[in-house]
Amino acid sequence: MLATPAGKRTGAEMEEAEMKGEALPATAPVVAIDGPAGSGKSTVARAVAEALGFLYVDTGAMYRAVTLKVLRDGRDPADEKDVEEALEGISIGLERTNVFLNGADVSHEIRTGDVTRNVSAVSSHPKVREFLVKEQRRLAEGVEGSVMEGRDIGTVVFPNARWKFYLDADPRERARRRQAELAAAGRRKELDWVLRDILERDRRDSEREVSPLRKASDAVEIDTSDLAVEEVVERIVRYVRGEA
Ligand code: DC
Repeated sequence: MLATPAGKRTGAEMEEAEMKGEALPATAPVVAIDGPAGSGKSTVARAVAEALGFLYVDTGAMYRAVTLKVLRDGRDPADEKDVEEALEGISIGLERTNVFLNGADVSHEIRTGDVTRNVSAVSSHPKVREFLVKEQRRLAEGVEGSVMEGRDIGTVVFPNARWKFYLDADPRERARRRQAELAAAGRRKELDWVLRDILERDRRDSEREVSPLRKASDAVEIDTSDLAVEEVVERIVRYVRGEA
């Protein structure tokens, strides 16, 4: 796995340091943003990171990249062993909003319907989560701060994060947003189809055994149904700056 911004210790170096019992660098501030699909997380998290000058980490993109590898290898997303084999020799890189799989830019491929349909199954395997959670923790080391968005950031990846937010919105509104995203990518879908798809993914993401989607008890919940992106961003930035 490779997701190492310039100037940081590589995975092998960190592992060696851990084995030697060396003190790891103190974790920089983390803003954890969790929530279901279509809650506005990605757009909001990107803007918050920009406003604060923090690293932006889209953890969903990492699960999507693993899913793409599983599908490309012709493996079964539901089969634990098959998926574990697909993890061998995998390297995932993040560079701003671009995602790399074994060095190749897969930012578009990870958003296809095929990947979206299979990502919940792939992300339910404990080995996949273990692998990516480790990488996500490494990404947050040695940077000024990071804004990490996903499903389990405030509950599992950084339970001690200084700031935690849980974004949610009415399912129909979430479906409308997803429909607009798909249309922008040239894929027109009926609203009811998108709604069913979103509800099914919510169900799988919240009912899985390992790290299910849920709000951390100490997260600030924001219902984004009737809020503009700028309002949500402003609210979060004010919290982080201690102005709220
Ligand atoms: O944020 P997204 O819709 O691109 O995420 C894709 C899938 O990845 C989502 O359906 C569940 C999984 N995921 C996860 O299990 N844990 C995370 N921290 C982020 C995403």
